[in-house]
Amino acid sequence: MSQFNVSKEAWVGTATLGVVLAAGYYIGKRRSTFSSMDIFKSHSGAKDNPLMQYVLNHSMREHPALKKLRLKTLEDPWNFIMVACEEAQLMANLAKLIQAKKAIEIGVYTGYNALSLALALPEDGRVVACDVNENYTNTGKPFWKEAGVEHKIDLRIQPALKTLDDLLAAGEAETFDFVFIDADKQNYDNYYEKSLQLVRKGGIIAIDNVLWSGKVVNPAEGDLDTQSIDKLNKKLHRDVRVNLSMLTVGDGLTLAFKL
Ligand SMILES: C[S@@+](CC[C@H](N)C(=O)[O-])C[C@H]1O[C@@H](n2cnc3c(N)ncnc32)[C@H](O)[C@@H]1O
Ligand SMILES: *[C@@H]1O[C@H](CO)[C@@H](O)[C@H](O)[C@H]1NC(C)=O
Ligand SMILES: *[C@@H]1O[C@H](CO)[C@@H](O)[C@H](O)[C@H]1NC(C)=O
Ligand SMILES: *[C@@H]1O[C@H](CO)[C@@H](O)[C@H](O)[C@H]1NC(C)=O
Repeated sequence: MSQFNVSKEAWVGTATLGVVLAAGYYIGKRRSTFSSMDIFKSHSGAKDNPLMQYVLNHSMREHPALKKLRLKTLEDPWNFIMVACEEAQLMANLAKLIQAKKAIEIGVYTGYNALSLALALPEDGRVVACDVNENYTNTGKPFWKEAGVEHKIDLRIQPALKTLDDLLAAGEAETFDFVFIDADKQNYDNYYEKSLQLVRKGGIIAIDNVLWSGKVVNPAEGDLDTQSIDKLNKKLHRDVRVNLSMLTVGDGLTLAFKL
């Protein structure tokens, strides 16, 4: 994962210079390389942008538990991998719009979006939450409980592809309403294909980081993460199985509507 390549550098920074400097190094590095095509994400990249502040000030309606989880996550040096809150709110609104009951979160981290989706689902709704790192998900659990939606989040700690296969094997094909793909980039196409099998007609597959800080415009040789995202973007553009929107929210969010 390129988020892990970057994170390796951030990790060295954390050990030697401290959390704040590490984050600054990371953002500074991105800025110097992609100054004109930076991400527009509320807690990194555009964090201090007055227009972003205006957007947040005039649209966010964050549940108190979500806000607490976001602030808690911001204490982690890896917080730049967290979903943008304005993006999570958009997905929660979409999930409500299509009256979603069953969702899948591929890549949970501290569970901000899993919680946001769980809050948008009805009482008997379910979010199958896939991650491999329990350390991250443990950070989120107390906030899921505080929000009273813990019972809606079905956390599966194993490679996400295995969980998606398990769901297919359990006969759950075409029963899901919403999927958010946000884990290791080189599996993005696999996640997409399996999600397409699991989602019903009219369901939505949302794919995060489709702009990858602007790197998709000119993928570097040997940058497998960027190449993988770019390849899927090109495939989706031709894919007659879905209708499509590519949004510049956060680090780029594609919405694929299953036909
Ligand atoms: C970008 S973060 C997810 C952010 C999250 N959606 C949120 O709401 O903040 C990516 C996550 O994917 C997880 N991950 C990486 N490889 C994975 C795999 N093969 N299967 C499941 N999860 C994986 C990482 O542990 C990390 O927590
Ligand atoms: C956003 O809200 C904060 C807190 O109320 C305020 O300090 C800031 O000036 C606002 N900025 C914009 C651009 O609305
Ligand atoms: C989980 O956290 C513990 C304590 O902070 C740490 O020792 C361990 O290395 C972490 N494991 C992973 C997989 O991040
Ligand atoms: C998908 O897009 C096509 C072309 O824009 C449109 O004709 C069709 O109605 C759309 N389908 C749905 C289900 O929205």
